[in-house]
This record gives sequence, C-alpha cells and structure tokens, in this order.
Amino acid sequence: MSNRHERVVVRNAAFTDAEAIFNLIKEHPEELLARPISDIVQNTDRFLVAELDGQVVGTVSWSILPEIGRSLHPTVEVKSVAIRSDLQKRGIGRTLVQSAIERIRILAPAQIIVLTFTPDFFRKLGFREVPKETLMHKLYMGCINCSKYDSPFTCPEVAMALTL
Ligand SMILES: CC(C)(COP(=O)(O)OP(=O)(O)OC[C@H]1O[C@@H](n2cnc3c(N)ncnc32)[C@H](O)[C@@H]1OP(=O)(O)O)[C@@H](O)C(=O)NCCC(=O)NCCS
Repeated sequence: MSNRHERVVVRNAAFTDAEAIFNLIKEHPEELLARPISDIVQNTDRFLVAELDGQVVGTVSWSILPEIGRSLHPTVEVKSVAIRSDLQKRGIGRTLVQSAIERIRILAPAQIIVLTFTPDFFRKLGFREVPKETLMHKLYMGCINCSKYDSPFTCPEVAMALTL
C-alpha cells in the first residue's frame, strides 16, 4: 500500500514498531487515550503504520466490539489514529484510515465506528454522526473506565459510524 505522497508507505505493524506507536499515541494526550506498550504489542496485528523515509510517522488501529451470542450487528471500532504533529494535513491520516477500512471490510462487519474530537476529518472519509446510545457496547467497554468526564453523554467526543 502507498499513498499520494511517493515517500509515504502504509504497512502492517510489526512488534518492532511498538515503541514508535506508543510515542505517536502519547504525542496527542488531549485527543487519544494512552495505551501501554504491552497492549500495543498484544494487538500488533490490528495496527497499521505509515512510514516516511523509513520512519514511523502515523498509526491506526481497530478492535472488534463484543456482542452477546451470534453476531447480528458486528461492529469494529477504529482507534488510536495518530499522525506525527509536524506532518499533519498532508493526507497521511486519510491514507491510513482508508487502508484500515479496506482491511476491516474483509471481516464484513455491519459498521465501523469511531469516537472522536475531529468529526470533520472522519466525515470526509464517509463517517456520519450517530447517537451515543447506539454504541452502548463501546460505552461499556471503554467509557466505563474513563474518568475525564462524569458520563459518556457529557463527554464532547462525537460518535460516528460508517455503514458498510
Ligand atoms: C486527526 C488526524 C488523524 C488527521 O490526520 P491528517 O494526516 O492531518 O489528515 P489528512 O491530511 O489526511 O486530512 C484529510 C482531510 O481531513 C481534513 N482534516 C484533517 N484534520 C482535520 C481537523 N482536525 N479538523 C477538520 N478537518 C481536518 C483535511 O483538511 C483533509 O481535508 P481535504 O481532503 O478536504 O483536504 C491528525 O490530525 C492527528 O493525528 N490528530 C491528533 C490525534 C487525533 O485527533 N486522532 C483522531 C482521534 S480518533
């Protein structure tokens, strides 16, 4: 995979990328939840990275949300989207998230979701705002352990979905 920037290459992450991914996510504490290196390592097969001149400058990951019993509405969450601060607004984020969507499509989920402070970026990739109430499994998985706001419904993150 490569994007419109000749020198940017999107590829599957490898264990050797864990520290670079960790640092990229940590670079954006206002927008992203920090992830321990052990979590990144354990989910290496659910990360893509963007490389510029051999350096990791962006990342994206995904996780499958739980369902009880048969999978009637499989949902995959895109998360930890991070582009190095000095390289933003050059199309790298778009290329990474589009690549992640291609990978996730193979699983044939009903939808891809994201909780984000940058809805305009995701809107350009086809995501549309949805009520948080429609993502209760996400709220139970992630938001229930978050102490930034008193409730997911007062948190300014916007819930969005891309229906497949
Ligand atoms: C949000 C982020 C991933 C975007 O990556 P990027 O490489 O800068 O974005 P791109 O250059 O690919 O932008 C694609 C389009 O989205 C727009 N866009 C990018 N960031 C935007 C923002 N913060 N607000 C509004 N529009 C934005 C771009 O202008 C571009 O529009 P165009 O196609 O009309 O030119 C990046 O800024 C980032 O890492 N931010 C910090 C972490 C974060 O917020 N992650 C998302 C949380 S889920």
